[in-house]
Amino acid sequence: MSNRSNFTGKIGFVLAAAGSAVGLGNIWRFPYLAAQYGGGIFLLTYIVLAVTFGFALMTAEISLGRKTGLSAIGAFKTLDKRFSFIGYLASAVPIIILPYYCVIGGWVIKYLTVFIGGGGSAAAADGYFGSFIGGVWEPIGWFALFLGLTAVVVLFGVEKGIEKVSKFMMPVLVVLTLFIAIYTMTIDGAWDGVIYYIKPDFSKFSVKTVLAAMGQLFYSMSLAMGIMITYGSYMKKDVCIETSVRQIEIFDTGIAFFAGLMVIPGVFAFSGGTPESLGAGPGLMFVTLPKVFDHMSGGTVIGLLFFLLVLFAALTSSISLMETVVSIFTDKLKIGRRPACFVVLGISILLGIPSSLGNGIWGGIKLIGMDFLTFFDFISNSVIMPIVALATCIFIGYIIKPKAIIEEAEIGGAFKAKKLFTVVIKYVAPVCIVLILISSVLSGLGIISI
Ligand code: TRP
Repeated sequence: MSNRSNFTGKIGFVLAAAGSAVGLGNIWRFPYLAAQYGGGIFLLTYIVLAVTFGFALMTAEISLGRKTGLSAIGAFKTLDKRFSFIGYLASAVPIIILPYYCVIGGWVIKYLTVFIGGGGSAAAADGYFGSFIGGVWEPIGWFALFLGLTAVVVLFGVEKGIEKVSKFMMPVLVVLTLFIAIYTMTIDGAWDGVIYYIKPDFSKFSVKTVLAAMGQLFYSMSLAMGIMITYGSYMKKDVCIETSVRQIEIFDTGIAFFAGLMVIPGVFAFSGGTPESLGAGPGLMFVTLPKVFDHMSGGTVIGLLFFLLVLFAALTSSISLMETVVSIFTDKLKIGRRPACFVVLGISILLGIPSSLGNGIWGGIKLIGMDFLTFFDFISNSVIMPIVALATCIFIGYIIKPKAIIEEAEIGGAFKAKKLFTVVIKYVAPVCIVLILISSVLSGLGIISI
């Protein structure tokens, strides 16, 4: 424990955690979910969940890590042997996410190369994304490249270099996202999209909205997968946990919000905001943004810069994901770092190829009605993570008691929202998750419709 290196300075922790939190989740996943699940009502649900549930769970995970000085599996095991299963379950999440994360990362590289080659207008044409993804070797090739880049960094341990670059790139990405969002809003027909995105339509509210928003919250803030426990284990005692959590939340949610504003009004301006265009799913950003760039003077350069920055944000996240999986394997399989890297690489190739093809030629193969990528995404975000979150809440609320976390959080500063924390962890979160899980299982079995 004593030889754990620490994050330097107070802001060091927030930057590292935000670096892991900000990635494709904000830029790619949030906008397509918000578009699909009713716009404003999704946004509202997300924000309410973020300030209650997200806040409580992140505080809990960081405190657990700092208290024990261990990663997920060890942290739960040390505190209570019966609950070490939470650590194992949490560890399954990054293993499932990494492969399809790299598939999307591959799409980002593809679009970057298109814009570098001056083909931005071609990418704006209807059907461009569909024909790209309908291919076999091309999407697999880009996926392999992205995965390879990630693996090289992890294998040779050059994360520090990447982090340095991304510390500079991240603020630029934020500014660029803001700029594109403002531009998109001014396009003819886009305003309806702004209203759709901002104004909640309560008739669109359903259990599915909450499930999708909750899964997105976990995904985007890297919760319910042990990551924040590990980060907490590196955090110095004099850092205020509450303040750090607030900062990470505001930063992460802010970027997601502007990413939505960049994409959704574009869907209205260029594709009429029809239910089909809003429900495009994972391809939404790739279909819509090239149209926005094509409309913009100097859009080729802006587009190029945008995909380059997104690539960096995606790479830092995938490196951190792979790093996590490698350390799980080195610890549990008692193998060296290098062999572990190759095992992870092998698993990622195996799971990544179907995710890639499932959007194209294997689109006909369905697992509980979903293509492979959607299936992996669903199993991790909407099934395993809620279960991990539920178990964590029960563990903290009733086994080690909220006081244990509150005491840890108060070492480095005040914990003003401790009442809220206790109520959410003990009652609100567990009840909500149980209701959501039951209703989604019942609807999956066709017993109720939600
Ligand atoms: N939060 C990241 C994003 O928004 C994705 C992610 C999920 C992640 N789990 C992670 C990143 C673990 C690093 C480590 O894109």
